[in-house]
Amino acid sequence: MRPVDLFLALAAMIGHTAISVTAFNRLHALGVTCGTVKKLEKAILLLAAVVLCCFLGYWALFGIDLFEPIQQGRFSPLLLYIIPCWGAAICVIPLWLWRRIAGARTTAFVNDRTQMVDVAKELGEPPIGEGSTRMLAKIPGNQIFHLSVTEKTFVLPRLPESLAGLTIAHLSDLHMTGQLTQAFFDLVVDRTNALDCDVVVLTGDIIEKSACLPWLRPTLGRLQSRYGVYYVLGNHDKRLSDVPALHEELKELGLIHVGGRTLEVQWRDQPLLLAGNEMPWFEPLPQLNGVANSADEPFRLLLSHSPDQFYWARRNNFDLMLAGHTHGGQIRFPFYGPLIAPSRFGVMFASGVFQHGRTLMHVSRGVSGLQPIRLNCPPEISKLTLQNGH
Ligand SMILES: [Fe+2]
Repeated sequence: MRPVDLFLALAAMIGHTAISVTAFNRLHALGVTCGTVKKLEKAILLLAAVVLCCFLGYWALFGIDLFEPIQQGRFSPLLLYIIPCWGAAICVIPLWLWRRIAGARTTAFVNDRTQMVDVAKELGEPPIGEGSTRMLAKIPGNQIFHLSVTEKTFVLPRLPESLAGLTIAHLSDLHMTGQLTQAFFDLVVDRTNALDCDVVVLTGDIIEKSACLPWLRPTLGRLQSRYGVYYVLGNHDKRLSDVPALHEELKELGLIHVGGRTLEVQWRDQPLLLAGNEMPWFEPLPQLNGVANSADEPFRLLLSHSPDQFYWARRNNFDLMLAGHTHGGQIRFPFYGPLIAPSRFGVMFASGVFQHGRTLMHVSRGVSGLQPIRLNCPPEISKLTLQNGH
């Protein structure tokens, strides 16, 4: 076996993996129904496995030399597919580098400190609910019960002086499914209240099982803030059979829905524009036509479930955008980082702080997830402190 043949075979495998992961990530950024997503997800995984088996079978039967059949004019569908696989393999490293550079472009962010909370220790037992949680919690390094409480400071040039020092508690992706018990969410709320923030925001995927609806009052109903608790919904909230009833319940608990809306709020007697974007799962987009786009316009804050709305936020001159949805990728490989994130941009916006023009975006890793596994990617509550300056 020649080294070059082995290298080309490995490149084909890397490219095939990259194409399959790209299809998987983009699928979860579409605004299609949950049933369609599940069907297409199975189709992508099945196709990826079948093609992989075909590769291995071909090499076992005909050898690993990929050029010989091409030179002889034998173009099977598998050999034709190898060409885009090589192309994808060539793109993997530049894209990975671009992601790291793009993610590190902002200087408007100071990570103050992080406190790790051992949830199982604090509760006296791990908050294991139903499903696969008990089994997955035993995986070495699984951090689902290691809550990260992080304080971050953002320096924003258009923030009015009177709002300097404003604090926002950013919660996202609670995923109340029953896989973690209510005690876990009680603790999340206690820890959020202890941050003593001016504003609390939730950026979607709050609850997806009707059986957990009675949990909302004793958990989210206890959230405290000076200027309100605001939320948007995410794709998993759409799985509930009665979404209007969820809104009613949250409204009764004092939470304010901003999805598809634009609110002119007064915090510290300063007018701000607060909007919510739940696209592509819930329409409409917030209407911004009536708001002047001039230099002295109010500071603009956007809540969005998906970070894919970043460029929409930029086009609409938002100063700060808070998002979730991607869970940090949930499994972060040493050095490489995450591989899976449900976004049109792959793992580029998996978590962290990003800047484009005047728009700064914070993507939370979220509190939980549909699959109770997190490796090198602990769940997160963030206290964001806004400062003015350049
Ligand atoms: Fe989520």
